[in-house]
Amino acid sequence: QKFLKTLYLGRDYRYYNVIDSTNKEVKRLISKGHNIKNGSVFICETQTNGYGKFNRKWHSPEKSGLWFTIVLNIEDADIDITKITLLTGASVCQSLRSFNIDSYIKWPNDIYINNKKIGGILTERMWCSQERSYLIIGIGLNINSTEDSFPKELKDYATSISIETGKNFCRAEILCSILSCFENFLDDLKRSANYDKILELNRKYSNILGKKIKILNPDGSTYETEALALSDNGSLVIRDNLGKRKELISGEVSIRCS
Ligand code: BTN
Repeated sequence: QKFLKTLYLGRDYRYYNVIDSTNKEVKRLISKGHNIKNGSVFICETQTNGYGKFNRKWHSPEKSGLWFTIVLNIEDADIDITKITLLTGASVCQSLRSFNIDSYIKWPNDIYINNKKIGGILTERMWCSQERSYLIIGIGLNINSTEDSFPKELKDYATSISIETGKNFCRAEILCSILSCFENFLDDLKRSANYDKILELNRKYSNILGKKIKILNPDGSTYETEALALSDNGSLVIRDNLGKRKELISGEVSIRCS
């Protein structure tokens, strides 16, 4: 609390020791008709059923990371899942860098250090009436987790801030810094409908632009390609397997650094 500098983001919060998933908890409350205040944050020490994109299991060992969900209740239909995911990535990366943590964004929703994943973002939308919806933004960050807290199959691929930097960090301080950045970016976006700064940070901190990547299609097929650019609408421009320029919309495919 003493680190929180925001006006409204995180001023209302719910804290759980153990919960299945903070995103699931928010969705349950909304479907029961609860009104959730704009900018509320749901946070926990551990999740028993955390999940990520494509419904993959998300490991959330006790007290070693940040597992939380930001809830937005905004009318502006222009603020969509893609924009909010890129805004969240920019906030996380910029905050971590303010702690001298050299993090990168792997478009559209992964946070990396030294070519290994330390965090992910999962943005969902839930409608509660024809014109009202909530944006549910789940963020998972491995902060002080040790190597033995990762299951074997993830060891080559996932890491924590502490493993990569050799230091432990105060989770509350990192959380509050992310919330401040997020609130500032969101206010800018609402005021000017301009998300150049968010795009610029996503380009600057990208670990795939200009590099070879591997695309995994939903049907399991894969191909190698090059990430050419991040377009002004937030999609990733690549060369497809026939050599043609193509725009990928976030969420369609899974990407690996190759
Ligand atoms: C991904 O990398 O695919 C996204 C991972 C998102 C994990 C967070 S942890 C808090 C929130 N609750 C969940 O069940 N998932 C998100």
